[in-house]
Amino acid sequence: MKQSETQTVYSGIGGYEKIEQIVDTFYGHVEQNPILRPLFPDDFTETRHKQKLFLTQFFGGPRLYEAERGHPMLRRRHLPFPITPSARDAWLSCMHLALVENQIEDPYYTEMMERLTLTANHMMNTPES
Ligand code: HEM
Repeated sequence: MKQSETQTVYSGIGGYEKIEQIVDTFYGHVEQNPILRPLFPDDFTETRHKQKLFLTQFFGGPRLYEAERGHPMLRRRHLPFPITPSARDAWLSCMHLALVENQIEDPYYTEMMERLTLTANHMMNTPES
């Protein structure tokens, strides 16, 4: 088998260190975003930690999130927050910036954005007000 058929996105982009950089950059943008900021806690420390565990397993790395927090049940965990189409768009645009600023290029950029977009669509739970 060719290496491209066996390698995960996680290892292809540079493993946990790269996931950490992406997540830290991402929440830096979320913190500045007027639609997203009010949805999140004042302190992003725990949020960053949970997202690092989650994206590690989401992109084919070790199942760190499950080991610490159990089944993701992501839609259920997002129900307390009103996630509108604009919040989804804002979330994805912060993630786009985080990937670009951390030099994630194709094929990884496209694959990551496609998978994140599917999940973000699934998180929407509130119509636009
Ligand atoms: C669509 C827009 C989204 C919004 C507005 C949003 C917002 C939030 C908020 C407010 C929290 C709670 C923060 C906390 O408890 O510290 C959260 C948690 C989380 N989000 Fe999102 N989210 C979105 C999409 C996504 C997507 C696409 C993913 C995964 C690819 C994701 C993964 C997570 C994870 C893993 C947690 C932590 C859950 C836990 O263990 O408590 N979110 N999100």
